[in-house]
Amino acid sequence: MLQSRAMPNSLQLFPRTARVNAHNHLEIGGRDVVALAREFGTPLYIFDEAHLVTRAHEIRDAFRARDPNARILYATKAYFSPYLARLYKDAGLGLDVTSEGELEIARRVDFPRDQIYLHGNNKTPAEIRAALALGVQHIIVDNLDEIELLARIAAEMRATPRVLLRLAPNIDPHTHRYLATGVAESKFGLSISTGDALQAARRVAAHAPRLQLVGLHVHIGSQIFDLAPYRDAIRAVAEFAGHVRETIGVELRELDLGGGWGVAYTEEQATLNVQDIVNEIYTALQELQITNYELLFEPGRALIAQAAVALYTVGAVKEISGVRTYVSVDGGMGDNVRPALYGARYTARIANKMNEPPAYTVAIAGRYCEQGDILIKGVELPRVAPGDLLIIPVAGAYHIPMASNYNLIPRPAVIAVREGNARVIRRRETVEDMLECESVE
Ligand code: LLP
Repeated sequence: MLQSRAMPNSLQLFPRTARVNAHNHLEIGGRDVVALAREFGTPLYIFDEAHLVTRAHEIRDAFRARDPNARILYATKAYFSPYLARLYKDAGLGLDVTSEGELEIARRVDFPRDQIYLHGNNKTPAEIRAALALGVQHIIVDNLDEIELLARIAAEMRATPRVLLRLAPNIDPHTHRYLATGVAESKFGLSISTGDALQAARRVAAHAPRLQLVGLHVHIGSQIFDLAPYRDAIRAVAEFAGHVRETIGVELRELDLGGGWGVAYTEEQATLNVQDIVNEIYTALQELQITNYELLFEPGRALIAQAAVALYTVGAVKEISGVRTYVSVDGGMGDNVRPALYGARYTARIANKMNEPPAYTVAIAGRYCEQGDILIKGVELPRVAPGDLLIIPVAGAYHIPMASNYNLIPRPAVIAVREGNARVIRRRETVEDMLECESVE
């Protein structure tokens, strides 16, 4: 069952503390968004801290109620910062990290090492060294070449990492093809059908006790709304674990089922309900008589996407007679590449005209030098004028971490609001910052 659909003009896609105040302005975390724009400038990313915390607890508790040993790892690629690392540490979540940068953030907040899992389909020796030096115990191996590299570095560093194998189970998750990661042609993971996965298990097992083969991982894709492919993934992983037990004699106890839980970006979609995900997964496990496993999950988007909004100032409004009206904003594909990259759809409101009825359908154009830099192809808005504030909800995942300096435009500031307080969690980038890496001569 899915959550009920949002009514047009409702605040359902917005963070949980969002409301419309007496001035017809949007308010989040007890702060008037129009005042925030004045204080911090635009483009501005605003995170609702209460939403972040309650959502983390909600997901954690829904799984723990069913399975006290289940572990939720936050997939940091969705967006990571010291602020978030601290918040998720306090919420009792673990981390799925992919780079030295993400490891360094975990180190700075003294994140519990046994809760950090290192991913990557082409890990560098430096990354592996950094992870082992930090005391990370779990490495998710993606390919055959990585095994020798890991064994060599682990021996050098006298570490005995616990290894999970990332499987490519050949399952279609029915999502955008750029977001499908468990299909046969995927660049991620070890194919079960070609025999690579079993060969990897043999090779890791041959490195015992230096490498400890403890589990399997599968992440079939992102923005998945249909739960059936998760069942297929569980079956594939369990069958493969059985195969490893029979042929190699190793018992694999840690099963990491990845993330990918779908989130609504527009009013026609409905975010997957966490309780439904829990029920589907544990019913499948029961039916397949899979017991005695320790389960891990790696949601990114489902934890963070709806916790933030992107706030822009409207500049030029260009009406091309008989074609369309472009409302241009001071951001675009530099801070949100998702529409250009995946054709991702969004909705928007005018933060200073929240209760005005829609007057026309417009396209929201970004400011970057690409015709494809259109944030929204068509959205109904009240009459818009330069200086108005455009707000796009569901901006918490895969915006800031995928941001670029295209056209040498600095990346936006990020703030967190809570109970009337606002604090900067990432200051606005400056031209100086961008030029810091350039040689002058
Ligand atoms: N685990 C692994 C191994 C992953 O590769 C990912 C996402 C996740 C977990 C978390 O997936 P989530 O729960 O956030 O769907 N940039 C794209 C999404 C790419 C996802 C990459 N991997 C987007 O903007 O939609």
